[in-house]
Amino acid sequence: MHIKQVHLLGGLFLTVPTLAALKIAAALNVIEYAPLLVTNQDYFNNTATIINGGVASIVSDTSVDLAANAETQALRQYRNNPSLRVIWNVAQVPYRIVANKKSKISTLSDLKGKKIGTIQGTSAGYFIEHYLLTAANLKPSDYKIISGSDCRASPCGSNTFPSMLSKGTIDAIGFWEPTIEVAIQTLGEQNVVVFQNRTAYREIYNLHSTAEKLRDPKKRKEIVQFLRQLIKAQKIFDEDPTKVYSRVSKAVNVGVPLLQKVWPVHDWKGGIPGDLLDVLEEEDKYVAKVDNRAAASRDKLKNLIDPTVLEEALKEGF
Ligand SMILES: *[C@@H]1O[C@H](CO)[C@@H](O)[C@H](O)[C@H]1NC(C)=O
Ligand SMILES: *[C@@H]1O[C@H](CO)[C@@H](O)[C@H](O)[C@H]1NC(C)=O
Repeated sequence: MHIKQVHLLGGLFLTVPTLAALKIAAALNVIEYAPLLVTNQDYFNNTATIINGGVASIVSDTSVDLAANAETQALRQYRNNPSLRVIWNVAQVPYRIVANKKSKISTLSDLKGKKIGTIQGTSAGYFIEHYLLTAANLKPSDYKIISGSDCRASPCGSNTFPSMLSKGTIDAIGFWEPTIEVAIQTLGEQNVVVFQNRTAYREIYNLHSTAEKLRDPKKRKEIVQFLRQLIKAQKIFDEDPTKVYSRVSKAVNVGVPLLQKVWPVHDWKGGIPGDLLDVLEEEDKYVAKVDNRAAASRDKLKNLIDPTVLEEALKEGF
């Protein structure tokens, strides 16, 4: 039993039962994770512990109750950890490609034969492959992928994508924010062309738990409570973001003006996307190739999504 001592007037202590603290894993340097931080601070008395990690943490460490990550990493982990569950969407982000006009690029098809900065095996790696194939009919053999690092404020280090783009080491970048916006600002808006197509790809950054955690009635109750508060926090992110800019800025080390600029690329409406299973089925073919395995069936992937936690959270009303 977890207990908490409440300090009463006159120095008396009253011992009351409380819920066990939740442990949450997320990459602490991405904008997408920020609603979890704000939920913990504003609605959870900071009682949850948020550690740096993601779905890899929740499947390897049973003390972790919740984990946030893009759909790509969930697919990588689900293969060997079939108890992983998506319970809610934190953010959807239609990634962008920024290309240098000097490389004679004006349409997506012009990326044929070009060098594109991204990281294979990540959501950005899939974004490039899927977007170029479905919207421009370009196969991976039609362009060259070059690895690099992110940059969240100029001046960017020499091995970062924005520096590589301005030096001409690469012709375009396909990556998450704010690196794309930093590259646009580094080269100057008039010198770049930006491609974005939400139908072709948007990152689906979800909150996950495991079947074991969700079977434990006490733990499940805490998770439902957390989700109820997260829904409130995301409403602020969506409708009134000026309230959170400065905190998010400090948390992920992205200056407020840059954060404001990339905010519209992020969709905080939450829920569980209606086409999530379709996206997972299509994307698992890519993840399977990167991880050198067979793609999972739609039937198997169906179990990765558990809408019942959200149903319970909504039942209590707001
Ligand atoms: C936060 O603290 C207040 C006051 O101590 C308490 O009433 C509330 O139930 C707590 N909320 C959570 C989620 O622990
Ligand atoms: C966006 O991508 C889809 C494929 O996913 C494609 O059918 C559509 O034509 C693209 N739209 C534009 C404006 O390129």
